[in-house]
Amino acid sequence: MAGVRRLTLEEALALEPKWQHACHAMLYAPDPGLLFHHIPMRYAVLMQMRFDGRLGFPGGFVKLQDGTLENGLNRELNEELGEGAQAFRIERADYRSSHAATNPHVVAHFYAKRLTLEQLTAVEKGAPYARDHGLEVLGLVRVPLYTLRDGVGGLPAFLENTFIGASREQLIEALQDLELLESSSA
Ligand code: APR
Ligand code: MG
Repeated sequence: MAGVRRLTLEEALALEPKWQHACHAMLYAPDPGLLFHHIPMRYAVLMQMRFDGRLGFPGGFVKLQDGTLENGLNRELNEELGEGAQAFRIERADYRSSHAATNPHVVAHFYAKRLTLEQLTAVEKGAPYARDHGLEVLGLVRVPLYTLRDGVGGLPAFLENTFIGASREQLIEALQDLELLESSSA
């Protein structure tokens, strides 16, 4: 996305009609699991491999008929994730940030929603039956939140992937602000 700039939701909603609005969401849940019996998983955080070969968050363009940003986001989540996404609704309270990019003029709104691990697992189980599976969505992935002893494996290596739009920044900021990473720097 060329020329990305951050703006408030109020500024974004006041943009001219030539701007297309998109909404994406980070779904996450506390995860008590231990990798190799000793590395805490801490949280299950969902991203997806997109049709363009980039990682991103589920969501997409909001349509005029959606009425609100959140209605559009919830519709997109149903299309991309299937029926597991019907167990919850993303609301304005889950909103976190907006980024505007030119050429094309897209303003992307980002949300984060805390689920139970059961809800998140139900999303993963239902995802292969979603309308967009195998088309716009090539698969869900969990984000590794730990760093292995080599200092690279885990989150640092994950962040070396190619990400769509502002999703890499959105991920890093949400992990920090929601305190999903270990409090120490280890
Ligand atoms: N942050 C910022 N921008 C993003 C993010 C993100 N996390 N994720 C995607 N975008 C941008 C994309 O680059 C795209 O311009 O937001 C726009 C819409 O997001 P998508 O999820 O790609 O849209 P979606 O409605 O799910 O479907 C893709 O886009 O190119 C068309 O015809 C294509 O139907 C397809 C649709
Ligand atoms: Mg999409």
